[in-house]
Amino acid sequence: MNTIFSGIQPSGTLTLGNYLGAIQHFVKLQEDHNCYFCVVDEHAITVPQDRLKLRENIKSLAALYLASGIDPNKSTLFIQSEVAAHTQLGWMLQSLSYMGELERMTQFKDKSEGKEAVSSALFTYPSLMAADILLYKTDIVPVGEDQKQHLELTRDLAQRFNNKFNDIFTIPEVSIPKVGARIMSLQEPTKKMSKSDENEKAFISMLDTPKKIEKKIKSAVTDSEGVVKYDKENKPGVSNLLTIYASCTGESVEAIEEKYAGKGYGDFKQGVADAVIHVLQPIQERYNELIESELLDEILDQGAEKASFTANKMLAKAKKAMGLGRVK
Ligand code: TYM
Repeated sequence: MNTIFSGIQPSGTLTLGNYLGAIQHFVKLQEDHNCYFCVVDEHAITVPQDRLKLRENIKSLAALYLASGIDPNKSTLFIQSEVAAHTQLGWMLQSLSYMGELERMTQFKDKSEGKEAVSSALFTYPSLMAADILLYKTDIVPVGEDQKQHLELTRDLAQRFNNKFNDIFTIPEVSIPKVGARIMSLQEPTKKMSKSDENEKAFISMLDTPKKIEKKIKSAVTDSEGVVKYDKENKPGVSNLLTIYASCTGESVEAIEEKYAGKGYGDFKQGVADAVIHVLQPIQERYNELIESELLDEILDQGAEKASFTANKMLAKAKKAMGLGRVK
């Protein structure tokens, strides 16, 4: 059985983009793969975080994974900072990462642009991400489009390590969904929908009320043409809404275009809002039950134990291969 690893940062309430680009696929993949899903809190501290808010976001993200359908009997769900091997291997992989290749990462460029104080951890973030993946002999990493470059670097680092020291790491493949890999901002549809966007109207949070979802979709930027047609170049707003509709319902873009032929954007936007609410409402109901329950802690304890067991074995191999510590 192939092994899957993926992670999400607890840096704010998840967006519809995170759900459609990532979590939705994790739920299907767990049926026939050995899956590890991680709350990557050590990645979140590469930019400033309020400690109480971070704690809250970590638990909230774990509950959202479960409420979306991650089954702890099928998948291992855990918090990155509770498995020490991640930062340990991350450091070792940093020693193999070149400044030049880290400087080329577009996520680093985007997140550091115009900032006065940029942490060195934001710069070396991809080496830690590589460690996350390589610790579990991961075959496939399901992610949205924006993580593709980090995955290429992970593969390079694994190959570099294997060639230089010992052939211990599996070279992972990236898996990017055909539809929904890049959900765009509702206000600036040429920009990715992001949970850290300052404009709240630009993204749909997975915990937004139906009323709020409806309002945000109704005020989404479109164009003056009034034709529901997919054309990413000339109609980015409408194309984004079509992608959201298709990803939520599983219907093809063509079928949706046909359904709304001759109708205006008002009807179409109502359809998009209904589709989103239909997906998110049951998740929110389960979330509300889980967030206060003791079950959540039990699942995370078990997840950390299971993940540590596998990760520590790979860490020991990597240390031995690099010549760290003593031979016992
Ligand atoms: P993060 O927390 O930014 O996003 C989590 C997942 O959601 C996807 N995603 C999107 N998909 C479609 N449209 C969007 N607008 C959108 N925004 C986000 C992301 O591609 C991702 O799959 N570096 C990672 C976290 C990470 C990780 C890992 C992932 C750390 N270690 C190991 C995989 C394997 C990140 O910042 O994701």
